Amino acid sequence: MDEAKFIEEKIEEIKSITGSEKAISALSGGVDSSACTVLAHRAIGSNLKVIFIDDGLMRANEPEDVSRIFAGLGIPVDIIDAQDEFFYALKGISDPEEKRKAFRDIFYTVFGREVMRSQAKYLVQGTIAADIIETKGGVKTQHNILEQIGIDPEKGFGFKVVEPLKELFKHEVRKVARALGLPERIYARMPFPGPGLAARVVGEVTPEKVSLVRKATQIVEEEIESLKPFQAFAVLLSDKGTGIEEGRRKFGDIIIVRSVESKDAMTASPTQVPWDTLMAISRRITDEIPEVVRVAYEITPKPPATIEYV
Ligand code: XMP
Repeated sequence: MDEAKFIEEKIEEIKSITGSEKAISALSGGVDSSACTVLAHRAIGSNLKVIFIDDGLMRANEPEDVSRIFAGLGIPVDIIDAQDEFFYALKGISDPEEKRKAFRDIFYTVFGREVMRSQAKYLVQGTIAADIIETKGGVKTQHNILEQIGIDPEKGFGFKVVEPLKELFKHEVRKVARALGLPERIYARMPFPGPGLAARVVGEVTPEKVSLVRKATQIVEEEIESLKPFQAFAVLLSDKGTGIEEGRRKFGDIIIVRSVESKDAMTASPTQVPWDTLMAISRRITDEIPEVVRVAYEITPKPPATIEYV
């Protein structure tokens, strides 16, 4: 693929669709929304409003890091602090599907409010080819979210959707992101689920549990980084297990470490992580997060398991 040509064509396309109207981009820090945001900014400059919804379910330092990276590219990002609203919406929900639904509903409530406020006529969105194929094939239902909850974006929020990356697959988006000058930390990064760390807390999501799984995720990512897995993370179970603290029994938390190899996330196999790395992860998690008394490495492929736990 000729990235430079693609970028040039898409810039012209975005310009001709949006004209002199305002557009909005919801940046998540993932490679798709990042590439899409830079493309749209090159096309329409200050007519693009970039927002980052801080749902409290991101990885460590994410809002700050993403806005710093984009500020460095000359693209201002508005961080919308909606953490309390998200935790309130997720309170008391343990069922995985209910959790995803609650997340989706609060996301579009917050996002809709910001769109109204910005008076944007267009939403520039980083949908990619696999999202469309999986949605049409019924494999993945998390995309085309507006349509699924019965909202016509134009009627519901008053905007039209522009999707400049919809012909590309992930590896091509990574090349475009690189050609757009995004740093490796963005163009080479692992996929991260829309519902964030809520997908990695089994049972009810609380700020305390998210904070715990965030710390464990950071440790897993740091220790496993050199192996360059497709995806690696930590999961907090709702069950507890017995451990020992200062010679006494202690009933504490259980962390599952998951690392998988995959091409397209449709199937996956567990990474053959060296024993020393696994031991380093276990040691660091129990040393740095005293609530955790047990760490286990998961060895189930997809299928029958999925990659995420929720
Ligand atoms: P599963 O858990 O279904 O995940 O095997 C497959 C891939 O999709 C990611 N994932 C999501 N991505 N919104 C997303 O954009 C979501 O709701 C979502 N849920 C899972 C997951 O991290 C994996 O890469």
